[in-house]
Amino acid sequence: MSKNPVVAVCGATGAVGREMLKVLEDRDFPCANVIPMASARSVGKTVPFRDEELPVIELTDDAFEGVDLALFSAGGGTSERFAPSAAKAGCVVVDNSSAWRMNPECPLVVPEVNPHDLEWHKGIIANPNCSTIQMMVALKPIHDEARIKRVVVSTYQAVSGTGQKAIEELENQVRRLMSGQPVVADVYPHQIGFNCLPQIDVFLDNGYTKEEMKMVNETIKIMGDPSIRVTATCVRVPVFYGHSESVNIETEQKLTADDVRALLATAPGVVVEDYPEKKIYPMAINCAGLDDTFVGRIREDETIENGINMWIVSDNIRKGAALNAVQIAEVLLQRNLLRVP
Ligand code: A2P
Repeated sequence: MSKNPVVAVCGATGAVGREMLKVLEDRDFPCANVIPMASARSVGKTVPFRDEELPVIELTDDAFEGVDLALFSAGGGTSERFAPSAAKAGCVVVDNSSAWRMNPECPLVVPEVNPHDLEWHKGIIANPNCSTIQMMVALKPIHDEARIKRVVVSTYQAVSGTGQKAIEELENQVRRLMSGQPVVADVYPHQIGFNCLPQIDVFLDNGYTKEEMKMVNETIKIMGDPSIRVTATCVRVPVFYGHSESVNIETEQKLTADDVRALLATAPGVVVEDYPEKKIYPMAINCAGLDDTFVGRIREDETIENGINMWIVSDNIRKGAALNAVQIAEVLLQRNLLRVP
């Protein structure tokens, strides 16, 4: 494409949509025009972009005429409903919902890990789950070096991953609890203020939640290696921004903790923050608003031959959603793939 693309942000009034606009601006993404879209409820509202307030238009089947790229973050149902219309109109979709992730026609991409999968896109590209993205960025260099056989992950996930209403729910509950008032859980099934919920998304027949199985299935698709075994426990914690993960891996070849630190020190998008003697390790409060994935507490698992434990933290709205989507768009532009075949 010789001219700069026209870019739609679908779900522009939401937590991720707003961040997408910010990331497009921060990275100076070359666009001819940006069109914020949301539901009919938001018509009449504006969203900030560069020095302007852009009017929000309603997301409809006909809204993609003349649009080259659409970044979707408006929920799975909305993506399922409208992404095909966008692609039909010749617009390449990068979708942040789970609607298209396991569809064999749609690449599922973390640009640091599998940018080559963008080559076979057919109009709809899926952005992985936030917890999966940050884990992939850290595990890919280890897998390439020593082949990962098994991953055991427990997540500590921020409420912003659920959306704007969940951010408000935690804020309100904390305020009410601190003044001795009763709270009502609306977004989550239980109180999230000063609590941890071992349920993210719905339960499946196997006893795992949908979020946990996303981590299992998406890891295999992104790494392109069905032999990796993953087991996950996903927990919502009363944190606004930044997902943390305790990750245990078993590799085929032996790696020491120093080997892992050296591998991750040169990995794209990764910062090693691992000075336990100085009490320095990754924390959600420090990563909010940043692009990198931070890894620390790297140590050998002494209960198995080739095992490593680590702690992986990243801003779930940025690398876990908006930034990853914009990075995909950047690769599409660089490789001249911003067209529906
Ligand atoms: P709206 O603000 O008009 O409801 P979050 O994940 O923070 O809750 O944000 C969800 C985003 O998805 C919002 O921008 C919301 O727009 C948008 N959205 C939700 N449902 C629809 C829909 N049916 N059509 C278009 N946009 C939708």
